[in-house]
Amino acid sequence: MENVIEVRNLVKKYKEIIAVDNLSFSVREGEILGLLGPNGSGKSTTINCILSLLKFQGGNIKIFGKEMTPNSYELKSKIGVVFQDVSIFDELTVYENIDYFCGLYVKNKETRKKYIEDALKLVGLEDFQKFYPKKLSGGLLRRLNIACGIAHKPKLIFLDEPTVAVDPQSRNNILDGIKQLRDMGATVVYTTHYMEEVEILCDRVIILDKGKIIAEGTTDELKQRASIEEKVTVEVNNLDVRELPKIKDLMNVLEVSYEDNLLLVTYKDGKNNLVNMITYLKSKGIDYQKIYSERPTLNDVFLELTGKELRD
Ligand SMILES: Nc1ncnc2c1ncn2[C@@H]1O[C@H](COP(=O)(O)OP(=O)(O)O)[C@@H](O)[C@H]1O
Ligand SMILES: [Mg+2]
Repeated sequence: MENVIEVRNLVKKYKEIIAVDNLSFSVREGEILGLLGPNGSGKSTTINCILSLLKFQGGNIKIFGKEMTPNSYELKSKIGVVFQDVSIFDELTVYENIDYFCGLYVKNKETRKKYIEDALKLVGLEDFQKFYPKKLSGGLLRRLNIACGIAHKPKLIFLDEPTVAVDPQSRNNILDGIKQLRDMGATVVYTTHYMEEVEILCDRVIILDKGKIIAEGTTDELKQRASIEEKVTVEVNNLDVRELPKIKDLMNVLEVSYEDNLLLVTYKDGKNNLVNMITYLKSKGIDYQKIYSERPTLNDVFLELTGKELRD
């Protein structure tokens, strides 16, 4: 499969701050690539460098096999961008806003009308065409922002944290819309600091921290890299802390913690742990309210790789 984006040794500094630190990665045709990282990890800077909106100190960037420069208008017409901050015209209605942005690339009136209708449908704003942005909720505004960025049917789409502070309904609508865009053949670069979104949406993930890649792969590949295979949680009141080292010595156990009446045990192998734990608790006469087992999440992977929670 052909690479749609090639980033090689990208370095971007803001005075003494190194925002992007020798970053190299590619984006394959037809995939949704997630750029996952906490605030300040360099996601937006990376996107803005790829788009030639920012000057950078080192590296090079190719899009569709061609070098990307501020004057690459031909390339830019194939790209759609949805910026982190909503950027639309308050003076124009929903329909007129999309018409304006789409009209920058699509000159034929009939085609544009069809494209605007497709965009309205994709983000679920058909019933709000005549509304002015002031009358829209935050979630609907975000959806309009997205419609403006993708109405010209670009082959490559960047979305920078499009779901921050939106209601769950808009969020689901946005994630579904992005999947549709991918299924219709677009390549998507999606940034977020929400782990769960990446798990639902992305074909491949790059985890960024302080401008560097700390892990890369499909979510399954990433989970396999973590040494945790299973987590068992037990809701148990007033557990004697002297039990903790004993539990730690049980088969396959990696870590044990007990806080807020929750006993959390992680395992390096994913077999029979729940049964073994139940047996152990019974043998010790320890009563518990609930016990359950989970597969590790991307958050556990991130925690293991960096020693901190993703959301800081
Ligand atoms: N215009 C700017 N001037 C100075 N520093 C900046 C600017 N934009 C971003 N930074 C810094 O660069 C780093 C990366 O920021 P950014 O790319 O916005 O991260 P993210 O999008 O992952 O939240 C942060 O340390 C941020 O403070
Ligand atoms: Mg950002």
